[in-house]
Amino acid sequence: MSTIKSVKMDKSAKLEKSDLVRLNKLLAERGLASRRGADKLIADGQVVVNGKKVYELGIKVNPHKDKIIVDGKPIKSKAENIYIMFNKPKNVITSMSDPLERPSVADFMAELPARVFPIGRLDWESEGLLLLTNDGDFAQKVMHPKTEVTKTYHVKLEGQPQEYQIKKLLTGVSIPGGRVKAKHVEKLKMTKTTTKKTSEKNDWYKIIITEGKNHQVREMFKKIGFDVIKLHRVAIGKLRIGTLDRGQMVFLNEAATQRVFMQDLPEETHGRRELRFKSTKTKSTNINRKKFNKSLDRVK
Ligand code: URA
Repeated sequence: MSTIKSVKMDKSAKLEKSDLVRLNKLLAERGLASRRGADKLIADGQVVVNGKKVYELGIKVNPHKDKIIVDGKPIKSKAENIYIMFNKPKNVITSMSDPLERPSVADFMAELPARVFPIGRLDWESEGLLLLTNDGDFAQKVMHPKTEVTKTYHVKLEGQPQEYQIKKLLTGVSIPGGRVKAKHVEKLKMTKTTTKKTSEKNDWYKIIITEGKNHQVREMFKKIGFDVIKLHRVAIGKLRIGTLDRGQMVFLNEAATQRVFMQDLPEETHGRRELRFKSTKTKSTNINRKKFNKSLDRVK
């Protein structure tokens, strides 16, 4: 008798246990933040479970039974995942809320059917490709250092570095946050229309990195003695900004989201680091952009 009883008890206990999920994972799944962002929400005391504020990061909850409130609002049932490529203009903060009420990426996302959050960040003065989603696992994968997603930037410098200085970026420099190395650096030859505004004293470079330290590109160039005066992120993996206008966004389909995980390094650089002083061919880039834009569902 007693044996049967104990087996029954174990079974229900097991069922209960398998229903439990980590709170940060659940918040990420429900589109409130990335997993790291969810940890911050918990640590900041913004999460209430069954009437009690929780601060313990590893805490597990039962999504079917527990009442979870974030920032005063009950969490929603699982929403459909959405993935957005946005061309962030400069003078916009990469945040969904700003206590100082500066223009933020949230202002551009007001009409969306779900709450999204940015994957990583671009500085206030930086422009270009910013991904937003409500899929915490996707965000986590994109940002995880092991995934080594390539991020490609075009930068305008205050000055003209020498080859030996640029080489330092490829061998590694120490910046606040740690030691980092560029995967590829290339001097860009700007077209006539762009050079009109560009004095001879300002070189443009393309730089590809896989780490994601704060202000990384600016700090790297600062380390070799040059201020970055313009910074555009033009690609994340093989997902390229193309002809998407500033302040515009597109929903990404499954194929487009997977391009993020394809390393966008010149053929000969795979697995190596490289410095090039030749220009990129704008024509072929445009053809690729056109082709790629076809695979995206544009939203107005
Ligand atoms: N590196 C920077 O310095 N700034 C950005 O916005 C992105 C990468």
